[in-house]
Amino acid sequence: MEINLTKKIYAHISAIGGYVPENKRTNHDLELITDTSDEWIVKRTGIKERRILEEGLATSDMAVNAIKNLIETYNKDINDVDAIIVATSTPDMLMPSTANIICGKLGIENVWAFDINAACSGFLYALDMGASLVETNRYKNVLVVGADKISAYVNINDRSTNILFGDGAGVVWLEPTKEIGVIDALLLSNGTGKEFLNIEGGGSLYPPSQDSLEKEKTYIKQDGKVVFKNAINAMSHTCLDVLDKNNLSVSDINWLVPHQANKRIIDAVGKEINIEENKTLINIEHYGNTIAATIPLCIWENSSKLKKGDLLMLTAFGAGFSWGASLLRWTI
Ligand code: COA
Repeated sequence: MEINLTKKIYAHISAIGGYVPENKRTNHDLELITDTSDEWIVKRTGIKERRILEEGLATSDMAVNAIKNLIETYNKDINDVDAIIVATSTPDMLMPSTANIICGKLGIENVWAFDINAACSGFLYALDMGASLVETNRYKNVLVVGADKISAYVNINDRSTNILFGDGAGVVWLEPTKEIGVIDALLLSNGTGKEFLNIEGGGSLYPPSQDSLEKEKTYIKQDGKVVFKNAINAMSHTCLDVLDKNNLSVSDINWLVPHQANKRIIDAVGKEINIEENKTLINIEHYGNTIAATIPLCIWENSSKLKKGDLLMLTAFGAGFSWGASLLRWTI
């Protein structure tokens, strides 16, 4: 049987949803716990508050709420979904996958469901994976989730991390189209950064133990300065490279959606690639760094600004190091 290569199928985003917990942790709350100030945090990071999921709930609960928000807003049928990919570094459990737990909570089966861990770059990795599935024509409705309950790994007494991170979830629905939607991505990883940003404990190297707890290995740790410099450099270069690869220039971009880790990183990337300031979407002020959730949450919150046909460039950087940039046309 001959395969018709002329009928290329693309993936496009047909719906988007998001969820953040009610509970806020403000800079003033942190002033009462560690030696810091609202002024310092806002000046050095751009963050004013973050959302914290209550104890007893997990990453899957936020993901399910984000999916329900998408379904209600866009009148979708969850039974149409044939694959769920969850980008997370904070799965509910080591096994089963959070994607699998989500299937149970939504009451669906016959779904290919799995997690991807690429830290703060996870959503871009998952989006590319999801788009690739759709392009095969074997999967028609793919949910791509970015969700993290990073507060479970933040040492509330460590001012180098407690100011930065918050919880949240975002999701997009991918479907096939003959028009181009998801255009391209450059996703990279070098493994040279693991000492600068990590959660060491709980895996097979440092399994849960009294020793791990005493050595505080279950907390997120980072060397902020090293991460900061690498993040700017990697995101800026990859944005320019993915544009170049697709014969596009910065002036073609309608919206830059950067990972929301630090407002100064976002500003520096914008400056490096020379994009007009008002083209960058930012919501870090209210949520901080929600790891794999920052990009879908930021698009979701700003979706009323986006017009059909707009060209979006997404870029992220995270532990590992892992990083990348994606290009897509907005089609909602
Ligand atoms: N509150 C008040 N003062 C603080 C502070 C806090 N939370 N954290 C550090 N300081 C102090 C330091 O002790 C230092 O004081 P000194 O000058 O008297 O020695 C001063 O502020 C500057 O500290 P420094 O560590 O140089 O701050 P910074 O400008 O590098 O900002 C981060 C720290 C963590 C905000 C910043 O490095 C960062 O955002 N890094 C990237 C983080 C990131 O993106 N992580 C996730 C990537 S996915």
